[in-house]
Amino acid sequence: MVRLRGTFTLLPPLLVSVCLLLWTETTLGSAHKSTYIVHMERNSSHTDISIKAAWYRDLLRIATLEADQLLEPDEDDLHHVYHHTFDGFSALLTPQQVAYLQSSPQVIQLQRDTLHKEIHTTHSPEFMGLADGHLWPESNYGEDVIIGVVDTGVWPERPSFGDQQLGPIPSRWKGICESGTNFSASEHCNRKLIGARSFYKGYEAEYGVIDEAGGEYKSPRDSEGHGTHTASTAAGTWSHMASVGPGLGLGTARGMAPKARLAIYKAFWNARNSDADTLAAVDQAVADGVDVLSLSLGSPYDQARPDIGRPQLWKDMLAIAAYGAMKKGVFLSLTAGNEGLKDRPNQTTGTVNNVAPWMTTVGASTTDRIFPADVVLGNGTVIQGKSGLNSKLLENMTSLISGCDAAKNSSVNYLKACLCYPDTLSPALVRGKIVMCTIQVDKGAAVLEAGGVGIIDASWFTQGDGIEIQSDYVLPTVRVGATARRIITEYINSTNSPTAQLRDPRQTQYNRAPAPAVATFSSRGPSYAYSWNVIKPDIIAPGVNIIAAGIKEKQYAMNSGTSMACPHVSGLAALLKAAHPTWSPAAIRSALMTTATTKDSNNATITLLESGQSGTPFDFGSGFVRPERATDPGLVYDLSTGDYLNYLCMLRYPPQIIRAFDADAPACPATPIRVEDFNYPSFLVTIPVSEASTHADRTLTNVGSARATYVASVTDVANITIDVHPPILSFNGLNEKKSFTLTVSVTNSLEDGIHYSSLTWSDGVHTVQSPIVIRRGSE
Ligand SMILES: *[C@@H]1O[C@H](CO)[C@@H](O)[C@H](O)[C@H]1NC(C)=O
Ligand SMILES: *[C@@H]1O[C@H](CO)[C@@H](O)[C@H](O)[C@H]1NC(C)=O
Ligand SMILES: *[C@@H]1O[C@H](CO)[C@@H](O)[C@H](O)[C@H]1NC(C)=O
Ligand SMILES: *[C@@H]1O[C@H](CO)[C@@H](O)[C@H](O)[C@H]1NC(C)=O
Ligand SMILES: *[C@@H]1O[C@H](CO)[C@@H](O)[C@H](O)[C@H]1NC(C)=O
Ligand SMILES: *[C@@H]1O[C@H](CO)[C@@H](O)[C@H](O)[C@H]1NC(C)=O
Ligand SMILES: *[C@@H]1O[C@H](CO)[C@@H](O)[C@H](O)[C@H]1NC(C)=O
Ligand SMILES: *[C@@H]1O[C@H](CO)[C@@H](O)[C@H](O)[C@H]1NC(C)=O
Ligand SMILES: *[C@@H]1O[C@H](CO)[C@@H](O)[C@H](O)[C@H]1NC(C)=O
Repeated sequence: MVRLRGTFTLLPPLLVSVCLLLWTETTLGSAHKSTYIVHMERNSSHTDISIKAAWYRDLLRIATLEADQLLEPDEDDLHHVYHHTFDGFSALLTPQQVAYLQSSPQVIQLQRDTLHKEIHTTHSPEFMGLADGHLWPESNYGEDVIIGVVDTGVWPERPSFGDQQLGPIPSRWKGICESGTNFSASEHCNRKLIGARSFYKGYEAEYGVIDEAGGEYKSPRDSEGHGTHTASTAAGTWSHMASVGPGLGLGTARGMAPKARLAIYKAFWNARNSDADTLAAVDQAVADGVDVLSLSLGSPYDQARPDIGRPQLWKDMLAIAAYGAMKKGVFLSLTAGNEGLKDRPNQTTGTVNNVAPWMTTVGASTTDRIFPADVVLGNGTVIQGKSGLNSKLLENMTSLISGCDAAKNSSVNYLKACLCYPDTLSPALVRGKIVMCTIQVDKGAAVLEAGGVGIIDASWFTQGDGIEIQSDYVLPTVRVGATARRIITEYINSTNSPTAQLRDPRQTQYNRAPAPAVATFSSRGPSYAYSWNVIKPDIIAPGVNIIAAGIKEKQYAMNSGTSMACPHVSGLAALLKAAHPTWSPAAIRSALMTTATTKDSNNATITLLESGQSGTPFDFGSGFVRPERATDPGLVYDLSTGDYLNYLCMLRYPPQIIRAFDADAPACPATPIRVEDFNYPSFLVTIPVSEASTHADRTLTNVGSARATYVASVTDVANITIDVHPPILSFNGLNEKKSFTLTVSVTNSLEDGIHYSSLTWSDGVHTVQSPIVIRRGSE
C-alpha cells in the first residue's frame, strides 16, 4: 500500500492559498460530507478508466482510514471519474478526507462542487443568409457531424428530432442511449438522436434523490424545455408550420445544421446543476466521439466564488476539461452569459464568462423579427409593445394594477412585487386584473398564482425598447419598454379605476431596423478572468425571441438568452466541419470571426439594445456571424495545441500548473513568448504610458484560392498609427502560411483608455477582418 503523505510545499506555490482557503472553510464547517472535484496528476499506469477508478477508490479508502479509524469508507461516495478531458474524480468527502487529499502530492487541486441555479428556430437561418446560400448543400446540412449538447435533456417526440432524411449513424460513434423514466432508448433514440445520457450524482448529493413526483424525469427526458430548445436550434431537422400562439413566426423550423446528429447529455435537474455532473457530461461526450460541444451554461468558475480568489484560468475546471476536449479536436461553443452590463462598474472588468481561448464565446443579438402587440389604456392611449408567446390576449378592458402597488406587505416586498417575484403579490389586490411589472423569474407565475389574468412586462431599463421577450409567459402578456412603463404608471396614478386591454398581435414583422443589435442581457467584455490578452466574447449570434422545439404540450417555444445564441454557433460549426473536414476547431472559429460583420441593417456599427449607442468589440466581439462567408473565409488564423500551451506559458504559469491542463506539456520555450503574438483572430494590445508602441505577430493560413494576393488595411484612429508589415501577402498554394507584424504606435496626446480599430486583409474576393483593441494607460 502506498502511503500518501506530503506537505503543502509539494504543491505548486499558486495552489497554496486555495488549499488554505479550503482548509479554513472545511475545518470551520460541520463534519458533514460535501462534494468535491479532485483534480489529479496524470498517472501513466492508468491506461484505462477502470484501473483509474479502482485507484481512486483505494485513495478514498486510505483517506478515510487515515482521517478516522472508526469510519467505514463508503463505496458510493465516488461519483464521477474524469478520464478523457482531465484526470480526477468527484466524491463526497469529509473535512478530514479533504485535508488528507490536499496534502497528497498527486492532487493538483480540490474544488468544492458548486451548484448553479441559472441556466443561462424558425427565422434565424434566413436572417443569417443561410437559406438561400451554398453552405447548406455544400456541407450536406451537416450530416455525419455529431453535436453534443450538455443541457436539461430532450423531448424526443418533437418533429425536430426525426431521422427521416438521415443515413446510418457514423460508425465512429461510441456513445449510447440510456433508458429511464419516460425515456426508452429503443423508442426515442434514432439516427438523429444518437446518444442520450444523464448525470445526477452531484445534484443528488446536494438536493437529495431526484423528486419525480415534482415533475422531473430521472432520464434524458427534458422537464424544463431549455435543452430541447437548444438542441433543436443547433440541429433540429425540418419541421413545418413552426409557430407559437396564433400564427406568430409561422414558417419552417429547423436548426442550423438540419442533418447533424445529436447526442444529449442531461446534467440539469429542476433547472439546477452541479459542476461535478457538468464535467462528467463533458468528459463522456468527448469519449463518445462528439465533434462539437454546445454548452449553454455558465462557467463553473464565476464571480460568485470569492472563496477561490482572483479569477484564474487554472482554477476553472470547465476550462481545464474544455482544454482536454479541444486537444481531441472538439469544437466548443459556450455562452457569454446573461449578465449584460451588470457588475461592470468600469471598463476594466466585464461580465463575460467562459473565456478560455480554446472556447468560442457567444453573445446574443436580436434579429429583424418582432411580434408586435398593443396595450390600450382605459383613457384611450395605445402603446406599442411586443407580444409574448402566450398570445391569447385580453380583448376586453380589464382592471389594471402595478405590481409595485400590489405587494402583500409593501414594507417588506415593495421592490420584489415590482418585479413580480414569487409570493410577493396580494391576491386580494391582483385577482382578475392585469398586472404591470418587470418579469424576472418564472415567466410571470406569481401573477397567475395571485389570480391575475394578464401581464404587462415593462422593461426597467431606461431606454430598452422591450423587444427582448424573456420567454414564454404563463399568462397573456405584452412586453413594453421603459418609456411605456412611465406612461402607464402615470396613467395608473391619474385615475381611481385604471383599466387596460392587451390587443391582438398584428402580423409578425420582419426587417425591423436596426438589426442585429446586441441584446441587453448579453454579457460584455473585457474578460475579468485573467489579464488583458484576448477579446471576449468572440462573436454574437441570434439570441432574442428564438423559436425552437418545446416540451410537453408546447410544440414550439420562444426563448431569449445567450443560451439560444450558443447553439446557433454550434450548428454553424458543424456545417463548417462537414464542409471542411480537415479544419481545426481554431480554424473554424477563425472563419466565423473574420467573416462576421460589425455593421447592422442601417450600415452603421451594431448598436446596443439598452442604449441605442454603437457597440464595441467588448460587446459583440468580431461581430455578427455570417455563415455563408465563413465557409469561404480565404485565410484563417490557426492555432494548434502547442500554441495554446505557449499561451499558458505566456501567462507565466509554472510547469505544474501547465501540466494541470495537459499532462503531456513540454517545458515552456526558453525565450519567453509574448502574449501579443498568440495567433488569435482578434487583437488586444496594451501600451503603457511609458511606451510609445507595441507589436503583434500573426500567421495566416491560405484556405481560399491557391494563388491569391491579399492587401492589408486598417481603420484610422486619432493619435494612433497602425502599421502592417508586410502590407501585401502573396500566396501560391493552399494551406501555405504567411506571417506579418502589426505595429501600433501612439502619440503623446493620445487619451488614456480604450481605443478601437480593425484590420482587414482582402484579395478582392475575401475579406478577413479582425477587431483591434488598444488599451493606453496603466500596467
Ligand atoms: C499510480 O497508480 C497506481 C495504482 O494504479 C499506484 O500504485 C501508484 O502509486 C500511482 N502512482 C503515483 C505516482 O501516484
Ligand atoms: C410518463 O410515464 C407515465 C407512466 O407510463 C405516464 O403516465 C406519463 O404520461 C408519462 N409522461 C410523459 C410526459 O410522457
Ligand atoms: C474598476 O474596477 C476595478 C475592479 O473592480 C477596480 O479595481 C478599480 O478600482 C475600478 N476603477 C474605477 C476607476 O472605478
Ligand atoms: C368580453 O366582454 C363581453 C361583453 O361584455 C363578454 O360577453 C365576454 O364574455 C367577455 N370576454 C371575456 C373573455 O371575458
Ligand atoms: C409587514 O412586515 C413587517 C416587517 O416584517 C411586519 O412588522 C408587519 O407586521 C407586516 N405586516 C403585515 C400586514 O403582514
Ligand atoms: C404616483 O403617485 C405617487 C403618490 O401619489 C407618487 O409618489 C409617484 O411619484 C407617482 N408616480 C408617477 C409616475 O406619477
Ligand atoms: C392617458 O394617460 C397618460 C398618462 O397620464 C397620458 O400620457 C396620456 O396622454 C393619456 N391619454 C389621453 C388620450 O388622455
Ligand atoms: C456603408 O458605409 C460605408 C462607409 O461607412 C460605405 O463605404 C458603404 O458604401 C456603405 N454601404 C452601403 C451598402 O450603404
Ligand atoms: C488626439 O490628440 C489631440 C491633440 O493633438 C487631442 O486633443 C485629442 O483629445 C486626442 N484624441 C484622442 C482620442 O486621444
